[in-house]
Amino acid sequence: MTGLDGGDRPAGNLLKGMGMKRTGKILGCLGLAAALAVALNAPVAWAQDGRGDVVYVPTPQIVVDEMLRMAKIGANDYLIDLGSGDGRIVITAAKKYGAHGFGVDLDTYLLKMANENAKKEGVTDRVHFVEQNLFETDLSKATVISSYLLPEMNQKLRPKLFTLKPGTRVVAHDYAMGEWDPDQEKTLIVPEKVVGDPGKSYTYLWIIPANAAGRWESQIPVAGKPVTYQFNFEQNFQLVHGTVRAGDRDVKLPQIRLVGEAIAFKLDLPVGGKPMPHQFNGKISGGAIDGSVTFNDGSGQRTVPWKAKQIQRGELKLGSAGTSGAAGAE
Ligand SMILES: C[S@@+](CC[C@H](N)C(=O)[O-])C[C@H]1O[C@@H](n2cnc3c(N)ncnc32)[C@H](O)[C@@H]1O
Repeated sequence: MTGLDGGDRPAGNLLKGMGMKRTGKILGCLGLAAALAVALNAPVAWAQDGRGDVVYVPTPQIVVDEMLRMAKIGANDYLIDLGSGDGRIVITAAKKYGAHGFGVDLDTYLLKMANENAKKEGVTDRVHFVEQNLFETDLSKATVISSYLLPEMNQKLRPKLFTLKPGTRVVAHDYAMGEWDPDQEKTLIVPEKVVGDPGKSYTYLWIIPANAAGRWESQIPVAGKPVTYQFNFEQNFQLVHGTVRAGDRDVKLPQIRLVGEAIAFKLDLPVGGKPMPHQFNGKISGGAIDGSVTFNDGSGQRTVPWKAKQIQRGELKLGSAGTSGAAGAE
């Protein structure tokens, strides 16, 4: 079991060493644990039964609120908190936003507390907490995932997160996802926080992208004639680059950031012999892109449908960790 700053001697063990038991009072021991940790230059953590991969430290409530805001959580969402502690993230999502969901933890004391808290807050019809290893949890119902875990745990979860529906939001406290660039990040001033970077919390949002990797083809009417456009997309996490061929040469794409199923980019393409600015907007679903393209073909600015068919699948790459096991989220 490691501490949240990556050190491997959690202060929880220090407390145990001092003969402190893991009781309800442990939660009230933050000051002492913090003081001990600071004095001994050790990470702050709670005494636990040692079954988990990281010790319990609660996310401060203002950070919970910010994570849920970043996820734009709502009544139609299903949230799964990986390592749910006292249940505060899932319970807040249910109470403030009407969301459904569950939390998993391996600590039976915390699970009992989380289920009791859900009862106190009147949200047991929408949320529950179960004893389960977060790495073995079925995440398929999730539209939002939350975590406050160590960086290596987040990274281990990455391939599984990429099997989730495009548009699923992942929010994390303090620790990022390695090479997977967040779609949004914030720094919060949290004076009472003594773990990690004391006085500060970092919050991160990622949106599971669709799989755009591969070759696509469209017929687009330009100046009254159908023109073949070929798109060659390479994808690393949510970032896409590649080329588009319209007319007689390949044009390099700027880096595109997918937002769930949405793809949008601007590009000058040599259609009819001269560079013509195009704005593409579409939604990727399965082997099709459906959207619109706006350009000026001499008869004024026009917006026409953009329908692309995938003619060859590519691999969605997940950095040095390899490719997405599910051949990319679809
Ligand atoms: C830092 S706490 C975060 C608690 C809560 N999510 C929050 O933000 O307030 C991490 C939690 O993960 C749990 N945990 C650690 N390893 C786990 C595992 N492999 N499976 C399930 N829970 C785990 C710990 O027991 C602890 O409650």
